[in-house]
Amino acid sequence: MITGLSIVVRFTAMRQDRRPYWVKKTYLKFRYWYAEHFLRPACDELGAHHTIMKPWYVDINGPNITIGKCVTIVAEKYSPVKIGVWGRQPDSGKISIGDYVLLSPGVRLSASDEIIIGNNVMMANGVYLSDSDWHGVYDRTERDEKVTPIILHDNVWLGDSSIVLKGVTIGENSIVGANAVVSKDVPANVVVAGNPAKVVKHLDSSIERVTRREYFANPAEQAKYFDGLDRMVLEGNGFFNWLRTLIKPNNKD
Ligand SMILES: CC(C)(COP(=O)(O)OP(=O)(O)OC[C@H]1O[C@@H](n2cnc3c(N)ncnc32)[C@H](O)[C@@H]1OP(=O)(O)O)[C@@H](O)C(=O)NCCC(=O)NCCS
Repeated sequence: MITGLSIVVRFTAMRQDRRPYWVKKTYLKFRYWYAEHFLRPACDELGAHHTIMKPWYVDINGPNITIGKCVTIVAEKYSPVKIGVWGRQPDSGKISIGDYVLLSPGVRLSASDEIIIGNNVMMANGVYLSDSDWHGVYDRTERDEKVTPIILHDNVWLGDSSIVLKGVTIGENSIVGANAVVSKDVPANVVVAGNPAKVVKHLDSSIERVTRREYFANPAEQAKYFDGLDRMVLEGNGFFNWLRTLIKPNNKD
């Protein structure tokens, strides 16, 4: 049975985007409205120029959550993005996310006390950060009294399905390899990999870094550029042909 939602999912699954320009524009406006209407009130702060894809699959729970400007969050039905503070007191605990951060599908951030994420940090699919084990090793009914924040400095990149455990600080520019489990502090400018994660490489500090800050140097200009691109690519798409692709797609769609 073709439900409304499966049609929405379907139109992004074509070989090419068959939507007329105005349909895509309407969709983007709705997506922005949804984020502003439902996600902004869930945060103490949500910076300008956010790109939140499928914001209906983003879960933001708890107090003291701030998100900086130009964040990109990509959520999917079966890989929602979850940002949650479960403090020890009703108004305690915090998650602070810097500017230009990328959160990919399936990212989960769970804070008991404090998770601090710097600028330009990138998290690949399925990354998990938790500053608490949530249960004691001997007392399984309580979390540990010790506060063990996670701090990611600017430009950290966390690879696919990596996990950062309680009390870990990761230094500027460092990279965590796919599937790594980080249980100890990581210095700046290194690559760590494995479980438990160990330094496998030192980055060359003489090479200039290009980060998401540069990519978003002029958000208004960038938005204009992508709008122009959409207009050009989708211009020839007819409404009824697009409707037909939703109901009876063929191998040229
Ligand atoms: C971390 C990463 C970026 C490093 O790339 P790189 O700098 O080209 O690293 P190298 O290939 O030179 O690897 C250095 C060493 O670490 C090992 N290594 C690299 N990544 C590893 C990983 N994820 N797990 C285990 N070992 C790893 C390599 O085998 C190599 O070991 P060796 O020195 O014994 O030969 C890359 O390996 C990785 O994990 N990429 C996944 C990125 C990702 O998730 N992208 C999703 C989109 S955001």
